[in-house]
Order: sequence, then structure tokens, then C-alpha cells
Amino acid sequence: GRLKATTLILFGATGDLAARMLLPSLFGLELDGLLPDTLQVLGTARSDGTDDSFRDRARSAIREHVPGATIDEAVLERFLARLHYLPLDVTDAAGFQRLRQAARDDGGEIAIFLSTAPSLFKATIDNLEAAGLAGSRVRLALEKPLGTDLASSREINDAVALAFAEEQTFRIDHYLGKETVQNLLALRFANVLFEPLWNANFIDHVQITVAETIGLEGRGDYYDGAGALRDMVQNHMLQLLALVAMEPPASFGATAIRDEKVKVLRSLRPIDTRTVESHAVTGQYAAGAVLGQPVPAYADELGRASATETFVALKAHVDNWRWAGVPFYLRSGKRLPERRTEIVIQFRPVPHSMFASRGAQTSPNRLIIAIQPEENIALELMAKMPGLDRNGIRLREVPLDIRLSDAFADTRRRIAYERLLLDLIEGDPTLFVRRDEVEAQWQWIDGVRAAWTAAGVHPRPYGAGNWGPPAAIALTERAGVSWND
Ligand code: BG6
Repeated sequence: GRLKATTLILFGATGDLAARMLLPSLFGLELDGLLPDTLQVLGTARSDGTDDSFRDRARSAIREHVPGATIDEAVLERFLARLHYLPLDVTDAAGFQRLRQAARDDGGEIAIFLSTAPSLFKATIDNLEAAGLAGSRVRLALEKPLGTDLASSREINDAVALAFAEEQTFRIDHYLGKETVQNLLALRFANVLFEPLWNANFIDHVQITVAETIGLEGRGDYYDGAGALRDMVQNHMLQLLALVAMEPPASFGATAIRDEKVKVLRSLRPIDTRTVESHAVTGQYAAGAVLGQPVPAYADELGRASATETFVALKAHVDNWRWAGVPFYLRSGKRLPERRTEIVIQFRPVPHSMFASRGAQTSPNRLIIAIQPEENIALELMAKMPGLDRNGIRLREVPLDIRLSDAFADTRRRIAYERLLLDLIEGDPTLFVRRDEVEAQWQWIDGVRAAWTAAGVHPRPYGAGNWGPPAAIALTERAGVSWND
């Protein structure tokens, strides 16, 4: 059933994610009048605190992090009145009884959001179940990292599955909450123009870039144990790839969409040890400058030497009928020249150019889907340049440009978690990651790491503010392809 939750329990309520994303997002839902009237938000964490101290914390988090920053005080007070706090050690079973008593007892559903270290998941879930906070009335959202490899992710999934059915389990990949990521679905499946061309017959290759300018941001303990491949590719980038590559689902429903994504993820060709160096390049930033500011090397920022990669570039293949022979180039890194997430679909050249007889060049069409910071869709088309050229014609590519932020200028820019929290409260798992997807993602990622280990690959240095090490450029140039810089 799709009953709305009337209690949202937030584990890790005093943490960074709660302050930056979750509380501001819930406030955004309040602004839009989307929270159920009776919803209460029960925050919990280990530290002492009261309803009042939690509300104060939430008030300043919202003032600091809500985009647009014009805060309606009446709405804010209405929102804060929903908040309650209960200090809780997740290993303390008695504490969970108090938690259960604090949850609204109106027969409504309960949504639980675990924004804590995964090492606490198991104890938390055991105690939730023992306290009667599991079962069909309760759904559970889990934040990454869901393991560090397939085996550890299975352990987490198994522990969850003992207390929560798959339909009650909401695994978060916050990229799926981004408007522009959902727009990929609209672009592909609400238009007739692209889908007939969306295959190996017409597409030469796909590029997916998730570039960041930031470094460790104080998350060294987590990040150094993960690295770019596991932090960004395993989840966000493979989800983007799946949305680009999947077959048209029959409906915008949780099963239909996720069935198609998982088929793509299972079709990823394993990276081979013998050719790993030309298919999976890794880097770590050395000192340099980003956006005009000098920044230290990764090891200095971390405070110790490390072999963790902060950059990765991959050449992946989806081995199925639609995509045979089409490379998917993926790259992601920290301390790159700019913050930019985009997908580039490069089409094949025209089969024959009549303009070649006059010396005019054609370049292949490209569809550029910019996800952030700008939300644009641009289709590069060849056009005749104006003028009376001696050879008769000169051609140049011009973009057919859709600025989504202009086209929808009167709407508020939302945080990805607004969509996800609303769906959690309303019980819609479509934009959450199913167990088979996560495991297919890990399986492929484990293969990349195993190949690196077997081939003795170590991250190559790149100066902060560059697009990764030179080998990342060579990865595409070998096939005559340039990254879209
Ligand atoms: C997180 C990663 O999942 O995504 C971070 O752990 C990264 O390292 C972040 O910075 C990027 O998210 P966004 O929404 O800023 O692109």
C-alpha cells in the first residue's frame, strides 16, 4: 500500500548530511505544502540533546543551507514544531523501546532514514526489529556507502533483508533525485527524435564526466578508504550510464525502470587484467591550483602518504545488441579544473559528405546533457556559415541550446534529497536502487580493482587543476576521441 508516513525517524540527525541536505530538504517540502499534516520528524543521534536544541540546530542549518535563502518565518516555525529529538546509542536495546514510544501511534507508516556509518547498520537494524520498528508498516532508507565491495555489500543487504522486505528498502543514490538526471528519462522517452538513433548504428561513443573542484573537505577518513572508483563510479556514474543505456521501460514504475537498469549493469564487460591500463586509468592529485587558488597535494591534505585514487577514467562497454562496439568513457575526479557533470552522446559521422568535394568539413552531431552546475541540453548541428565563400560553402557546428533553468525560470531549484525524502515518505521506491542493481554495480567495480591489483596499477600523479593524468587523455585519443573539455 502507498500510505504516507506519519513518523520519520532520522538516525544521524546531528550529522553533516542532516544539516546540509536532509533538514533543508524537509523544509523545502514544508514550503511546498507536501509534508503530510501529521508528520513528525524524530531525530536521533548519540549526543545529548532535547527537542529545543535539535530545533535550534535545524533552524540554523536551514538558514545556512536552503537555496534562495528567503525563509518564511511562519513556515519555518510550523516545520520546527514537527521536530523531536531522542539521544540514542544504537547498541542500547532499551533506547529503541523509548524510540518506539516516541513514534506517533496513529497507525500511520514509519519511515526510517539511516544516515550513520555503515558499521552501525547491523546493530541498528537488529534493535529496530527487536523493538517492533520493522515489518510492513516501516520502510528503511540507507545512505551510502553500502559496503566497500560485493561481499561487504551483500552482508549489509542480508542484514537488512532479515528485517525489511526489498519493497521496504530504499537505497539512496542522490543522483537519482537530481532534476536533470530524471530529465534524461524525459529526453529519451517523451520525445520521438532520439530513440530511433539511440544505438550502435548511430552513436559513436558516450562520455560521462563528473568533475569536482573540491578536495577532501574533511572527509579523509572515509574517502581514503574508498577512492574515486568506489565513491563516484560504483554508484552515481553507473546509474547515469544505466539510464543512458537502458531499454525503454514499459512504465515509470519501480519494477519496470529498475528491471531495465539492472540488465544494463549486468551487461557491462568485465575489465580485463591484460588490457586494464588502456581501459582504467587512475590518478591522485599533486599540489597545483584550482580556480586560481593554490591547493596542496592529496597526501598533504590527508596528512599521510596514500595509494588511493582521486581520479579515474574508464573505457567501458555494454555488451548487448543495442550497444555492441560503442565505448562508454567515464571519468571523475577531485581537484579538477571545474565542477561539471555532463553526458555527451557523440553520433557517427554522416555516411557520405557531399560537401567534401568543396573542401568543407563536417563534424559529427553531439548531444550534450549538462547536469550541473548548469542544467542544459545542447544538440550540436552542422550549419552553413553565412557568406559567399569562394568554394561555395563553409560549414560549422552550432548548438541548438535548451537552458532548462531559463525555460523553467519561475521554479525553485530543489535539492536532490527533496525528491527522495518525499518518495520515502510516500512509499515510492522508483528512484531508489534495488539490491540486484547495487550488487551488479559492485561486481563490475570489484573486477576493475582486481585487474588493477593483478596488473600492479597505481595512481599516477596529476597537478591539481588538470583533467587528470596524461594517461586519461591517451585513453580516448587512442580511439581518435577527445574528451569534451
Ligand atoms: C558523494 C561523494 O556521493 O557525491 C562525494 O561521496 C561527492 O565525494 C558528492 O563530492 C558529489 O555530489 P554532487 O551532488 O555535489 O555532485
